[in-house]
Amino acid sequence: MSTTREVTVPDVGDFKNIPVIEILVKPGDIVKVDDPLMTLESDKATMEVPAPFAGTVKELMVAIGAKVSEGTLIAIVEEIDEATPVVTVEKVIAEPPLLSPATSQVLSAPAPVPTPAPPPEIHLPAHASPSLRRFARELGVDIDRVIGTGPKGRIQREDVLVHVKQHMRHDTEAGGGGGLDLLPWPQIDFAKFGDVERMPLSRLRKISGPNLARNWVMIPHVTNFDEADVTDLETFRLKVNKENADAGIKVTMLAFLIKAAVSTLKAFPEFNSSLEGEELVLKRYYHMGFAADTPNGLVVPVIRDADKKGVLEIASEMAALARGARDGKLKATDMQGGCFSISSLGGIGGTGFTPIVNAPEVAILGAAKAEMKPLWNGSEFRPRLVLPLSLSWDHRVVDGAAAGRFLHHLVGLLGDFRRILL
Ligand code: COA
Repeated sequence: MSTTREVTVPDVGDFKNIPVIEILVKPGDIVKVDDPLMTLESDKATMEVPAPFAGTVKELMVAIGAKVSEGTLIAIVEEIDEATPVVTVEKVIAEPPLLSPATSQVLSAPAPVPTPAPPPEIHLPAHASPSLRRFARELGVDIDRVIGTGPKGRIQREDVLVHVKQHMRHDTEAGGGGGLDLLPWPQIDFAKFGDVERMPLSRLRKISGPNLARNWVMIPHVTNFDEADVTDLETFRLKVNKENADAGIKVTMLAFLIKAAVSTLKAFPEFNSSLEGEELVLKRYYHMGFAADTPNGLVVPVIRDADKKGVLEIASEMAALARGARDGKLKATDMQGGCFSISSLGGIGGTGFTPIVNAPEVAILGAAKAEMKPLWNGSEFRPRLVLPLSLSWDHRVVDGAAAGRFLHHLVGLLGDFRRILL
């Protein structure tokens, strides 16, 4: 015989409205007397609510975050009749159900036989004190994964530390994989919520997606922001374009940015490097990548030896590479060997963004749309053309101070391009 009974919060002293921070069982779980059902945590103490009797959890009446006091109904449990042997955790582990020779014969016979009912799902509550659970939680450790070495498998502080050390060692030894231990991607039937259309990813996206994902998770990114007063540079750019209109050459802000970035890389060589193990490979060449938007996705063509080319040459080479990118005619070599990348969304708009470093490079410059803004010159506000810049960098190689100086130097060059000659 079994009876359904209510489980309420027992006497918890003077505490009231204590938040439930952990639920340790779910409907269907079999619990023994004193197995922990849930954990409550007040400002001063963490406590577990134990099962007052053995049985099967039928229903949970509270969720994580609920506030409970003595007498609050927290679960409905079907009490197991004392005459029914309770399958204990130890018993299941030590004595897996054995089939008698006769039963084995029946099960292996070709004729259909009644399928034996699956064994009830056994909940394996971690035996650990509330304070230890709290300790594990603070370290981000799932206590149910810790192997207890105390009496009756009770988890001790050392067990949690051993668990953490093992994971850290595993992550280090895993090397390139990073050991992220991520949750699986959510599987959702979107059609349940409305009309959908499925479109295969382009070949380009299939290639660039995993590269971007790797760079995003493996590089500790930081992004600095600054603004450059490009009023005079824009006047010069328009003049140059007018002078070269007949030759069909059009210089955009990006060509000047590439030239200024080369000069800044020379001043800050660690930004023109790649990290290889415990060494930095400093490059003595300046091949500059620029992100180009194409109907199939993003590509990063490279302008080789940009330090040896003038702005006009860079502009016309960039136009040819961007055209090739849009027409899908770039060769693999057109996108190889880059030292540093620039991503310009200035022709599209926006006030700023955080570009992802293009590994194995160590930094990338983002440019948003230049806008007229009132700038204070010390005595009055003057309308100036201001270009928003962002610099994302790999914190394993560069520090914030260096990144700040890099951007400051670049801003200075763009504010007065003659400085490039210095
Ligand atoms: N602020 C204001 N205007 C800007 C600007 C800026 N920062 N950058 C460009 N412009 C202007 C240009 O001067 C041009 O105007 P004009 O025709 O009046 O002279 C217009 O915007 C269009 O420029 P665009 O054709 O985009 O040239 P570009 O040299 O600036 O950029 C590419 C060339 C290939 C980089 C660009 O076409 C592109 O693909 N950009 C997208 C890059 C991208 O997707 N990055 C995101 C990666 S996550």
